Amino acid sequence: MTNSRQPSQDSSSVDLKSKKKKDYAKFFTAPNLTEAKKRGREAIQVVDFPEIPEDLKQLGKEKHFYLRTYGCQANEHDSETIIGLFQEMGYTAIDDEKVADVILFNTCAIRENAEDKVFGEIGRLKHLKKEKPELVLGLCGCMSQEESVVNRILRSYPHVDLIFGTHNIHRLPYLLQDALFNKEMVVEVWSKEGDVVERMPKVRQDGLKAWVNIMYGCDKFCTYCIVPYTRGKERSRRPEDVLEELQELAEQGYQEVTLLGQNVNAYGKDLTDRNYSFADLMEDIRQIDIPRIRFTTSHPRDFDDDLIEVLAKKGNLMEHIHLPVQSGNSDILKRMARKYTREHYLELVGKIKEAIPDVVLTTDIIVGFPGETEEQFQETLSLVEEVRYDLAYTFVYSPRVGTPAAVMEDDVTEEEKKNRLYRLNDVINRIGREKNEALRGHVVEVLVEGESKTNPDVLSGRTRTNKLIHFPAGKEYIGKIVHVKIIEPQTWTLKGELVTKVGV
Ligand code: SAH
Ligand code: SF4
Ligand code: F3S
Repeated sequence: MTNSRQPSQDSSSVDLKSKKKKDYAKFFTAPNLTEAKKRGREAIQVVDFPEIPEDLKQLGKEKHFYLRTYGCQANEHDSETIIGLFQEMGYTAIDDEKVADVILFNTCAIRENAEDKVFGEIGRLKHLKKEKPELVLGLCGCMSQEESVVNRILRSYPHVDLIFGTHNIHRLPYLLQDALFNKEMVVEVWSKEGDVVERMPKVRQDGLKAWVNIMYGCDKFCTYCIVPYTRGKERSRRPEDVLEELQELAEQGYQEVTLLGQNVNAYGKDLTDRNYSFADLMEDIRQIDIPRIRFTTSHPRDFDDDLIEVLAKKGNLMEHIHLPVQSGNSDILKRMARKYTREHYLELVGKIKEAIPDVVLTTDIIVGFPGETEEQFQETLSLVEEVRYDLAYTFVYSPRVGTPAAVMEDDVTEEEKKNRLYRLNDVINRIGREKNEALRGHVVEVLVEGESKTNPDVLSGRTRTNKLIHFPAGKEYIGKIVHVKIIEPQTWTLKGELVTKVGV
């Protein structure tokens, strides 16, 4: 039964009207490992999104909003909720920020360059705000959860009107109203996660593929990572709520769903009233009539045999696993607090490949973690050679204020870090090309997503393993699952020709 009470407000939220701008900062908690780890074990309340009052539904009448999203799928999906909330308030989406009445940036804090981009954008908008004082300029998402960011905005970007965080998105109508009628900057960031709010308005941006949150937050506290602070503790949605959403998507004709969580393998561990794991969820989802189910991201540590067993049944469960390794050296992994060794990781990969021989594995890798030696980096290269990933997202380590790694001694120069990134990418690209080359002549199942961006006579789609493929065919195949023969494999994409149709 869904609890019918209203979503609670964190006690540290700000009484907006009684505070001056400069006073707000003290209401925030900096990302702090000790404090964050103290987070309670108390069960999270599940509440339904309450209907918004009639006056707020008129707020955006004949007005436009411009939303820009940075970061991961969690943010992309949050933006679908934000768009839903704007629409509830009567606002219309617009692509041109110059004519927008509200400009909102849904931000990412994962690396410094992600933040720099946003600071650049809000700096650039100073002129527009001067020309159009009635414009509301807002910031939400992961950067808002950082005290250092909020302080910097209060100090150097006073033309920002609204800041809210990742835990109080459902409060957008009320906060926007405050921003519209307040001369002060409106800042409401909850340092502690709130309830799980179900049935929020949502406007999905794609009619074929959908994202579904299965859990929020992260409790892994990898020493380099800001996410456990910006997204709060792990909270699983109840299986019945997830399954109900999937059922609705099936009825609406969605062809693909990606289940989202920072560490989906930890799904269910926090559900106090039952014993239900990610493998159980996947088993239940297998029965739902959606042709393609994906998930991201799985942490190697919680990847258990039950999950491998259910994934090996395939059907609507795709044979692609994104399994971030971060480093191939056990000492670095230990200092990253990843809680597995190189050997454990390789053993897991071996088990997965044995159970699902045609699996495609992709990964994330960080180079230049504080103190990483050339020998340790070499172990990352050799692991990549051994696993033979089809694709990897590679990053130079970026220190995040408040995380343990940010204060670790680091004697590796920036130049050396960049050099390692180039060398790693060379290996990854070569392997990716070889893996694609091995597919020459194979016939694969493709979900056709639309016309290719460069040629309207060519369609684009994704294989079960999530590889992008282009092939000439008519528009009538868009939205269908078809068979395509791979004719010309390339490093990043495949070129093919239509063979047979499935499900047309
Ligand atoms: N929850 C996911 C990761 C989300 S962040 C997981 O654990 O797999 C996506 C990727 O960003 C991470 O896998 C990591 O490779 C990278 N990343 C995170 N923090 C970083 C930092 N401080 N510097 C560089 N890369 C980072
Ligand atoms: Fe960050 Fe680690 Fe959590 Fe992934 S599992 S979000 S890398 S702390
Ligand atoms: Fe970025 Fe937040 Fe996602 S920091 S990667 S948007 S969880």
